[in-house]
Amino acid sequence: MELTLTSRQKRFCDADAFEVLFGGAAGGGKSYGQTADALIFALKYPGSRQIIFRRTLPELEKSIIRTALEMYPRDIYSYRRNDHTGTFVNGSTVEFAYCDNEDDVYRYQSAEYDVKRFDELTHFTERMYLYMISRCRGVNGYPKQIKSSTNPGGIGHSWVKKRFISLCPPDKTVKADGMTRLFLPSRLSDNRFLIRADPQYKRRLEALDDRDRRALLDGDWDIEEGRFFTQFCRAVHVISPFSPPPRWRKYISLDYGLDMLAAYKIALDDNGRAYVTGEVYEGKDNGGDGLIVSQAAAEIKRLCDRDEIRAVYAPPDLWSRQKDSGSSIADLFFQNGVRLTRVASARRAGWLELKEWLKVEKDELGGKTARLKIFDCCKNLIRSLSLIQCDSADPTDCATRPHELTHAPDALRYFVSGNPRPQAPEPPPYRYGFSFEKRADNSEKKINII
Ligand SMILES: Nc1ncnc2c1ncn2[C@@H]1O[C@H](COP(=O)(O)OP(=O)(O)OP(=O)(O)O)[C@@H](O)[C@H]1O
Ligand SMILES: [Mg+2]
Repeated sequence: MELTLTSRQKRFCDADAFEVLFGGAAGGGKSYGQTADALIFALKYPGSRQIIFRRTLPELEKSIIRTALEMYPRDIYSYRRNDHTGTFVNGSTVEFAYCDNEDDVYRYQSAEYDVKRFDELTHFTERMYLYMISRCRGVNGYPKQIKSSTNPGGIGHSWVKKRFISLCPPDKTVKADGMTRLFLPSRLSDNRFLIRADPQYKRRLEALDDRDRRALLDGDWDIEEGRFFTQFCRAVHVISPFSPPPRWRKYISLDYGLDMLAAYKIALDDNGRAYVTGEVYEGKDNGGDGLIVSQAAAEIKRLCDRDEIRAVYAPPDLWSRQKDSGSSIADLFFQNGVRLTRVASARRAGWLELKEWLKVEKDELGGKTARLKIFDCCKNLIRSLSLIQCDSADPTDCATRPHELTHAPDALRYFVSGNPRPQAPEPPPYRYGFSFEKRADNSEKKINII
């Protein structure tokens, strides 16, 4: 059997720190290095037990399991599909495992492994990782290690960066919590195999948008960490206030509870571009007493500021009937002079729609623009959009903690879910002219309208 490794892969295989992270650019050879290292360990330590995790089973099958089947010689290795376990003739095993949910970690509660491996570590939550490393033990005298590989980005970016990149200078083993930790950067230029086989690969990474290019081509860990609205960019979305023309439609969209009234006034231009022009943000979550409905309604009317408001969008839970009075919060708003329009509150569909509105596009002059812009006075909305994180278990949803950050994005989501429509365009100015045709006898004029 012949296995040629890059010098970085060799460094990864030789690394003897308790926790090792091989992290960086896409295509640097990290997963191949993991698979090769598992083989070397299995052959060196007969009867050893290893486990390799990916977050989901389809990812596992497409990547590590396939690479192992191609790399590991058939005469010494066999793979059982039903329990995703590979066995070597010397009795060593490599299990291929996945962790869809946080609680999946308990499947491995009593199992003992010598080496635990995580491919794409930033797809895992910190809780999953910490639980797994607590189970790394055994009495056979073989080395016990946790070896991971990953790109920057993903739901776990922040904790992985804190645990390894911020703590460990590259290629230097450090002591932490009484154990040793090592970060080995991986670059695309390390992988001559890929560069030779696919010279266009680098070009394709160069064509990615700024954030993905920094993560995947440069292996840059300073990209924004686990942010939900990666599209949001102050330079593009935040603008100085101006007076929207009276003919533009105006909407209010709100999220209401005693914890917070987050209400936004939004003007829609004739081309369907939205401008968030004003904000009310008051409640217990920012230190206030919380606004009761009459106070909230008064604030909303103040926000309307004599403009005609096309609709005041609100989430369906405001229509739930209160047990004691039989009326709903929406009824109370109505009694206080604010008629609410109920919108769908499907989170994922709403977030996807909102991300479309925030998507950065090229304008006519080649600059950057987006369908939704925010006046710089809407400070809480701007802060929340830039800080709110992905849900740790579901990257298609945002985190609901800290709760205070959820109100403003929710209110904006209700706006896009309301399917606001711009004013029908004004008809073009009626252009006409006359041409006079004199008859020979000068008696009649023919008028042509052109
Ligand atoms: N030592 C090697 N010998 C032969 N081919 C290799 C070697 N190392 C990597 N490759 C090949 O290079 C390609 C990229 O390697 P690999 O998938 O390990 O990169 P990666 O860093 O895990 O990428 P990603 O970040 O996208 O997961 C694969 O096709 C792999 O088979
Ligand atoms: Mg990989």
